[in-house]
Amino acid sequence: MDKLTIVRPDDWHLHVRTGAVLHAVIAATAQQFARAIIMPNLKPPVTSVEQALSYREEILSVLPAGSDFQPLMTLYLTGLTSVNDVKQVAASEHIHAFKLYPAGATTNSDSGVSNIEAAYPVFEAMEKHDVPLLVHGEVTDEKYDIFDREKIFIDSQLQAIVNRFPNLRIVMEHVTTEEAVQFVASAADKIAATITPQHLLYNRNAMLAGGIRPHFYCLPILKREQHRQALVAAATSGSPKFFLGTDSAPHLTHLKEHSCGCAGCFNAPAALSLYAEAFDQVGKLDKLEGFASFFGADFYGLPRNQGHVTLAKTDWQVPEVFHLANETITPLRAGETLHWQLL
Ligand code: DOR
Ligand code: ZN
Repeated sequence: MDKLTIVRPDDWHLHVRTGAVLHAVIAATAQQFARAIIMPNLKPPVTSVEQALSYREEILSVLPAGSDFQPLMTLYLTGLTSVNDVKQVAASEHIHAFKLYPAGATTNSDSGVSNIEAAYPVFEAMEKHDVPLLVHGEVTDEKYDIFDREKIFIDSQLQAIVNRFPNLRIVMEHVTTEEAVQFVASAADKIAATITPQHLLYNRNAMLAGGIRPHFYCLPILKREQHRQALVAAATSGSPKFFLGTDSAPHLTHLKEHSCGCAGCFNAPAALSLYAEAFDQVGKLDKLEGFASFFGADFYGLPRNQGHVTLAKTDWQVPEVFHLANETITPLRAGETLHWQLL
């Protein structure tokens, strides 16, 4: 197969930031995807409906001319989130979910939830109003090894939430382990997961063997090869529980190439190519459309997109950098030749 036409896809997990960074990165996503779930971990975080609506306006205002890209907004869950906030989100046509960051789990998560049980009344309201909960599934306690944090979160927190709120729709974002795949696959239909391109294509050797490569550093961190294989099997299985979420997370180049580099891979410029590469490697390109274009929309109860995109097996080069006024952002696979190109 050297050409693939699929219904226009969506990105169900995306960071685009604000201001100059937003300006530099938004076109990459808008060229490939019809819609994206926009993460609320700004500084300060997006915690109210008003903030989310004004952030949405900012995103719409920087779209390339003629783009019909739709940002789907989310609110950041904090210890102060109320049942009333849930009702307001349920009533908003533009806000689609709450994002739970355990406090300290990742970039701009300081305002996250430190006592998850204290948020149970909010989960109860989300269950009642059918507002999805998006979860960064990692424990944050320093005593746990960074490679074990996802599994421990499932065992110590997520299983309890699922048991207690059986009708709550939950997306375990950016799953990275065999255990997370098994957990989601064997859970009820209300439980789904997104998978990033980097976790489908790379294990931790890509980041650490033969030199430390900061542009492969994201959270949850890349794991062993057995986990990558479990993720590929899940993504290409045709199960509607697993769908596309890039977790594209731009940081300035100098803050990634740093003695304490930021977590996040800016994969948006090559997102669809990277997913096509991962599906092609296992001979499952026929499963890309469900993963990229159907299952996320179905889970969120949104219509599937009209229109199509075509990928061709043609070499193209990922730009070395994206420019801001005096800074750059380096994409994943910068300067490399990729083999699937969006026409
Ligand atoms: O690597 C990551 N970067 N993981 C996250 O969960 C957040 C993201 C970011 O915002 O930079
Ligand atoms: Zn993210």
